[in-house]
Amino acid sequence: MKFYQHQSLKKYNTFGLDVYAMYFVEYGSEDELLEILSSEVVSKNPLLAVGQGSNLLFLKDFDGVVVHSALKGITRIEETEDSVVLEVGSGVVWDDLVEHCVQHGWHGIENLSLIPGEVGASAIQNIGAYGVELKDVLQKVKAVRIADGETKIFTCEDCRYGYRESIFKKELKGQYIILSIIIKLSKKQVFNLTYHHLEKEVLQRGEINLRNVRDTIIAIRESKLPNPKDIGNAGSFFMNPVVNRKKFEDLRSAYPQIPHYFISDTQEKIPAAWLIEQCGWKGKRVGNVGVYAHQALVLVNYGGASGQEIADLAYQIQADVDAKFGIKLIPEVNFIG
Ligand code: EPU
Repeated sequence: MKFYQHQSLKKYNTFGLDVYAMYFVEYGSEDELLEILSSEVVSKNPLLAVGQGSNLLFLKDFDGVVVHSALKGITRIEETEDSVVLEVGSGVVWDDLVEHCVQHGWHGIENLSLIPGEVGASAIQNIGAYGVELKDVLQKVKAVRIADGETKIFTCEDCRYGYRESIFKKELKGQYIILSIIIKLSKKQVFNLTYHHLEKEVLQRGEINLRNVRDTIIAIRESKLPNPKDIGNAGSFFMNPVVNRKKFEDLRSAYPQIPHYFISDTQEKIPAAWLIEQCGWKGKRVGNVGVYAHQALVLVNYGGASGQEIADLAYQIQADVDAKFGIKLIPEVNFIG
């Protein structure tokens, strides 16, 4: 375990921003993490835990300690004829976990294929795609309190998961570092193919099985979302806004073609991508940054951009959407600095 000084974070943020951390350190065990937390460097500087940085926007260098998990285990801790319970280290790459589960015939997270990032961040963000969210399979989260190094096990209820929301983004923001998650998967053939035309697309490629569902999701994502290895981005930049029914009906009278998802009798969700596209932003480029041509919810760094340039583009989009639709888009990406 070593504290590196002036460490480039280019590998640790999928926007590919050329920013630096004053200190950078990795932990490969709980004991190492406790050692880091009780160090003098950490007592004197702000701390930031990162995975692959697929939801981070660094506005400038980070004047503090960046901590990264190297906890890589995937351990079967319970198994029955019907299900398996896994403990997964926070440093496991999320999509490696999905592939592992598909190979073993375990159902539940195949719809979350190809989501960038690591397992630790998945529990903070409650990652979701194609009708599935992490909370649907999550049983527990094991985390360490930064203030005193105490380990706590959170149940799924404790985590207060919502749409891209959790207690770790609200009341406990910046207070815990995730060690592992515990998830329960099914050995039985259960699929969730209700999202849009997902079932049709799976069937077009073959029969309904884990491998084919995973491959279909990967193909859909690759057709819409840029690979951060080629073009810097953080997936969806904003959350899809939820509006009350009166607001939705007003919007529908003005824009009868507005896409929407039923949430409850009082609420409707609207795709932010549609709102952004209607404001004329889709495919637009401003200097080194822009709005992706195949998905208007994705802001991209064409190379050499600063975090501030991306933030400025986001502010312009927010202002335009607010002016046209009276809706305030909330970033899904976390601004640092
Ligand atoms: N749409 C447009 N213009 C576009 C793209 C989409 O008008 O350029 C409209 C269409 O009506 C389309 C609808 O938006 O039917 C929804 O688009 P899509 O299926 O691509 O999903 P999304 O709402 O834009 C959300 C998640 C994604 C997740 C997909 C699939 C959020 C913020 N984003 O995107 O998650 O992969 O659904 O489930 O909820 C991420 O969080 O980084 C992410 C990529």
